[in-house]
Amino acid sequence: MVKNCEALIEVKNLKKYFHVGNSQTLKAVDNVSFEIYKGETFGLVGESGCGKSTTGRTIMGLIEATSGYVLYEGKDVQHGKKSKRNRKELYRKMQMIFQDPYASLNPRMTVSDIIAEGIDIHGLARNFDDRLKKVFNLLETVGLNREHANRYPHEFSGGQRQRIGIARALAVEPDFIIADEPISALDVSIQAQVVNLMKELQQERNITYLFIAHDLSMVKFISDRIGVMYLGSIVELAESNRLYEEPLHPYTKVLLSAIPQPDPVTERRRERIIPKGDIPSPINPPSGCRFHTRCPLAMNICKTSEPKLLNIKEDQWVACHLY
Ligand SMILES: Nc1ncnc2c1ncn2[C@@H]1O[C@H](COP(=O)(O)OP(=O)(O)OP(=O)(O)O)[C@@H](O)[C@H]1O
Ligand SMILES: [Mg+2]
Repeated sequence: MVKNCEALIEVKNLKKYFHVGNSQTLKAVDNVSFEIYKGETFGLVGESGCGKSTTGRTIMGLIEATSGYVLYEGKDVQHGKKSKRNRKELYRKMQMIFQDPYASLNPRMTVSDIIAEGIDIHGLARNFDDRLKKVFNLLETVGLNREHANRYPHEFSGGQRQRIGIARALAVEPDFIIADEPISALDVSIQAQVVNLMKELQQERNITYLFIAHDLSMVKFISDRIGVMYLGSIVELAESNRLYEEPLHPYTKVLLSAIPQPDPVTERRRERIIPKGDIPSPINPPSGCRFHTRCPLAMNICKTSEPKLLNIKEDQWVACHLY
């Protein structure tokens, strides 16, 4: 359920274009606007290459926006990061968890040093004992134990490594965590454990999440609201249950139809909607509605006029000429 409608993050008309070979422009994020409320999990979903990570990294201020802006508690992230002190504080408040917990952990550092890196940078421990105590607490918080502190990342399983990544993010007591496909590389049984851990931590620490994923299966359990992205744009944004029960955008229906159902009867009845053709290139996205080349319900207007994201029902926004 949506707990609170006070925005922690406001993304307004955000564009991120990359200049690629032959003086072409790749529109990775093209005019995206949404808010993330304090204490909620906002899920951002869409196929590979639709611009999810670029959106996340621009919100973090790791890459510069082409235009538009991101506000964190009303403060401009991109602009705010120009002052050294603001930048350091923003980097503490916003943390990231990555898809590949192995590649994102330095193999030559002990778990203890990996977790304590942020503590050291931000001077959050009074002395060595305090630092160690914090590391032990964090390990226990994520379901590991203090014996793990002096080991190296390769000694852990994928799920355990993701727990180390979570402990590292928590070490600096962030208010906001961007989790970029944090469970995609894990076995299904482990995925649920990591999602549950993230949910528990959110309740205990009132953390706000941006949870990025390429399919809708796990996102439902963790997200309060979900934005569906296609080729750099948000095509539907809705309260999580509503999105699953009454999806409006034809592309959302495609993504939902791809989720296998646990119940064999519903699974047998599941009709997979396969969109026509391949995803077009973000270098030359289709005119009008970007999805029209693949949409089973495309009309003439879809080829020429770009639909706006409109509030169709309570807690549900959709960019589609059908509505
Ligand atoms: N630094 C860059 N230079 C040029 N193009 C880039 C750069 N970073 C991303 N892109 C392109 O921008 C588009 C969006 O990429 P992005 O990584 O944001 O997608 P994604 O939705 O996170 O995909 P995935 O699910 O594969 O992680 C892609 O076409 C990608 O090739
Ligand atoms: Mg990505």
